[in-house]
Amino acid sequence: MIVIENISQIATPEGRSGPLFGREMGKLRIYSGKNIWIENGKIARITSERPDGRYERIDAENGTVLPAFVDPHTHTVFSGYRDFELQLKLDGKSYSQILSSGGGIYHTVKMVRKSSRKEIFEESFKRIENMAKHGTLSAEIKTGYGLDYENERKILDVIEDISEKKIMDIKKTFLFHVIPQDVEYETFLSSMFRLLMERKQKIDFVDVFCDEGAFSVDQTRNIFSRAMEMGFGLKIHADEIKYIGCSLLAREFPLHSIDHLLNLPYENYRYLKNSIPVLLPGTSMTLMENRYADARKMIDSGLAVSLATDLNPNCYTENMQEIISLAIYNMKMKVEEAITASTHNAALAAGFSKKGSLEEGYDADIIILDVPSYTHLGYHFGINLVRKIIKNGKELKI
Ligand code: NIG
Ligand code: FE
Repeated sequence: MIVIENISQIATPEGRSGPLFGREMGKLRIYSGKNIWIENGKIARITSERPDGRYERIDAENGTVLPAFVDPHTHTVFSGYRDFELQLKLDGKSYSQILSSGGGIYHTVKMVRKSSRKEIFEESFKRIENMAKHGTLSAEIKTGYGLDYENERKILDVIEDISEKKIMDIKKTFLFHVIPQDVEYETFLSSMFRLLMERKQKIDFVDVFCDEGAFSVDQTRNIFSRAMEMGFGLKIHADEIKYIGCSLLAREFPLHSIDHLLNLPYENYRYLKNSIPVLLPGTSMTLMENRYADARKMIDSGLAVSLATDLNPNCYTENMQEIISLAIYNMKMKVEEAITASTHNAALAAGFSKKGSLEEGYDADIIILDVPSYTHLGYHFGINLVRKIIKNGKELKI
């Protein structure tokens, strides 16, 4: 038994097998004067009983305790940077213009193809450590910067290498990111499906970037049909750059999560009831077009919203606290909703079942924040509020 003591406040969403919808997202369980008891890496109970000398103790130093963040949408595995694109965007070039002229994702693909598995691992693992330092202890990672058999396989290998390090639990998503410029579409598709078949056991989801400049609705439908037949869960990047009808695919396929949604029409909300919308306000900020997903309306309409960083070379942050700030200030989410969206709903969006809540039987992935109450999240922004991180019941020092 391990006990976390000297806690100013514990704040957690209710733990349940399904997502928290609409108004439920705003209701956290708040405890004060309680300790958290951990057994075999799981939460055993939250009580006010005092530990005696037999227990290993973790001192919260009067901080606030939350379930660790889960980041359900990341492109953590890449090589090189795109810092120079920031000036292009300031000069008025759009994300799509940069992409269609061979930059953006295509630039990162060139960098990945030039780098070895070891080099990409080293670059990417730094990001994993940054995520953990900022309170994220589980994440989804997508492939997508290889765009050919050999390089997508290299990215899958790096995701495996990261997973084996055990500081973060990982769900693996195979992403059809953009169409390569150097090969026939059908040749590309068949090499991707060959790889998917070979690595079937080690991939959790198939995702498609459905948008103008990426995959069309028809191409996405075709990929989804094949992937579903193979037994994969489905995710989608939808309605981000332009509305071309991608979110309507939720009528035809059981989409586990549906991500971005900056241009989601209100008429389509009704098709999203069985999926988790994953909103990415960091991406909105970095697109520099003043467009954010309408989180307020989605929550008020009863949807189960989640948040993620989208960590990638265009939107370069590992920090879910930053995302919570953006969600509050730019999407008008309440702090309680933003916490639920970054923990409980995020865990389910990523495909984890017993994470994101501090309830009996849940994984003891816990963060201790250097603040008197959870309401300082978002309010006190731009610095790392995480003081201690606890992974499977053990304090992690990074
Ligand atoms: O989720 N939208 C597509 N893919 C990523 C961006 C990747 C990149 O620009 O490198 C996203 O925003
Ligand atoms: Fe993405």
